Amino acid sequence: MSEIPRALGLPVPVVPPPAVTRAVTAARRALGRTHDRMTAPFQVVLERMFGVIDNKALFVAVDLGIPDLVAGGPQSAADLARSAGAEEDALNRLLRYLVSRGVFRQERDGRYANNAASEFLRADHPWSWRSWVLFFGSPWNWDIWKSMDVRIRGAGDAVVAAHGCDFFTFVNEVDPSAGVDFNKAMASGSRMQALLFAEHYDLAGVRTVCDVGGGSGSVLAHILTTFPATRGVLLELPSLADDAARVFDATGVADRAEFAPGDFFESVPGGCDLYLLFSVIHDWGDDDCVAILRTIASAMTPGSRLAVVEPHVERGAAGNFAKASDMLMLALTAAGRERSLAEFDALWRRADLTERRRVVLPSLFDVFELIVARP
Ligand SMILES: C[S@@+](CC[C@H](N)C(=O)[O-])C[C@H]1O[C@@H](n2cnc3c(N)ncnc32)[C@H](O)[C@@H]1O
Repeated sequence: MSEIPRALGLPVPVVPPPAVTRAVTAARRALGRTHDRMTAPFQVVLERMFGVIDNKALFVAVDLGIPDLVAGGPQSAADLARSAGAEEDALNRLLRYLVSRGVFRQERDGRYANNAASEFLRADHPWSWRSWVLFFGSPWNWDIWKSMDVRIRGAGDAVVAAHGCDFFTFVNEVDPSAGVDFNKAMASGSRMQALLFAEHYDLAGVRTVCDVGGGSGSVLAHILTTFPATRGVLLELPSLADDAARVFDATGVADRAEFAPGDFFESVPGGCDLYLLFSVIHDWGDDDCVAILRTIASAMTPGSRLAVVEPHVERGAAGNFAKASDMLMLALTAAGRERSLAEFDALWRRADLTERRRVVLPSLFDVFELIVARP
């Protein structure tokens, strides 16, 4: 598919077009409903409860570097335990469990190897999801989830209950190692989304891009790499400056990318052709979203457009990535939420923006293309 990874010398991840993803998702849902109907009620509950085991098992295996240790070929639990500094029997049981959950493969002789899923967890895999596992299973993130009930009961913010401050203050100012976990996870997720975005969203005529709340700049770097005549600016909190400089240097776009330290509630650079809000507004309640959107709208010229990239919550009982991500917003933010199409529409109207089109990416994230509404 894309020329971008090829140009960067990276293997091309296999991503089907949106229609295929939709069909496969529908089939998986139907199979999942059949599975649940064939499962005793107590087993349904047990399986949901055991989600916590998957999270920690993955975290420990990745933290021990197992996907990297087996990258050169299958290894016995004894050899892996020696290299990773683990107890052989415990590690063997951990990996046996993960194999049963579709991560890693076990040879007939009992040695462990990577399968397609664990390949994605190697540190040197260009599309690695290792950082997501390390963020998600980290003790500091678990501390937040321990306080999830605080949020549900309406007794406050789970992150404040766990760490004494809001999420972004915690990761950007209080605990630098948590910040590294989080920002790397965001960057690895957005690298993949950026690839899909650049492939499926028409960027013709765009010469200047402002990525608002663009994290460490990996989305912007992908866009600039794909479109060599384009210049970009990354509007972010000042603490992300060094990370962004590293990303811009590593991807060879430093001469066309600028870091603008700032606050998207106050102002963003004016007059860019395209503004991006990638996985940002789900962090905020409606009033804050409208404030962010208005800040951007006031910086836009008549030819500018704003692309908001978020998944949407589907109607009905079907499982949907946005519904799971909405739980993250409940746990990690004071008022963030994933939204339905109608809820997004209400935000655009309040911010005096008009939705010109909606493009669905193969990840099933939507790109909402907005322009300033005419008076
Ligand atoms: C969920 S992350 C998304 C990052 C990036 N867009 C991506 O998709 O990888 C939200 C980003 O918003 C940034 N942010 C939070 N509050 C901000 C503010 N007031 N002004 C500018 N950026 C902010 C955070 O630092 C974080 O990088």
